[in-house]
Amino acid sequence: MIIAPSLLAADFTRLGREAERAERAGADWLHLDIMDGQFVPNISFGPAVVAAVRPHAPKLFFDTHLMCGKPEILLEPFARAGADQIIIHVELGESVLPLIWKIKNLGKKVGLAVNPPTPIALVQPFLEKIDLLLVMTVNPGFGGQEFIHECLPKIQQAAAWRREKNLNYRLEVDGGINLATVAECARAGADTFVAGTALFRPRNMGAAVRKMRKIAHDNDPAFADLKV
Ligand code: DX5
Ligand code: ZN
Repeated sequence: MIIAPSLLAADFTRLGREAERAERAGADWLHLDIMDGQFVPNISFGPAVVAAVRPHAPKLFFDTHLMCGKPEILLEPFARAGADQIIIHVELGESVLPLIWKIKNLGKKVGLAVNPPTPIALVQPFLEKIDLLLVMTVNPGFGGQEFIHECLPKIQQAAAWRREKNLNYRLEVDGGINLATVAECARAGADTFVAGTALFRPRNMGAAVRKMRKIAHDNDPAFADLKV
């Protein structure tokens, strides 16, 4: 199970310290929400900020979520800035396949994200080529939104395809993930959990990370099968 705090919910006046805090708290990944003001109605931060934060969390895997309309011009800058994985959105249509190959050519892991209104069927052609599938559980653009429960069947479908096709992409969820919704997502088959508000807001981030990981683990169907 991977716990990935989203830096979008951190204190923007001290992002380096906040990344150190996430690493100290025992997070596995740092989720970096990159917003360009076109693909989503918000602007967050760019490659220079990621590069500045990178040395503050040397052990964390930088999971870079591009909510951007023209990601092709951003892949190299984020790769150079220290991204370990780059996630693009299936809603980009025709350019998805070339973008997947460009990310691979940069030596980075590749993720594909699907928004709540988008049918999960759209990701099927790419499943063999990606390292991670991100099922968005809020409409992208802002932290602190309510979890959209209607997305759960998409997680179940993605988990079923992974089993049936014997694939091993990670199944990530992102948006409104907290100590209640993490259980539902784990039961549906998710194994990678992005949380901004639920992890950066509590004073004791370590306790929040440990609690979220335990709930995810206890609700993992594979683990449940082992329970006597
Ligand atoms: C929304 C972002 C999410 C968001 C999660 O566009 O992709 O990662 O930051 O924030 P919370 O966990 O607060 O919903
Ligand atoms: Zn995100």
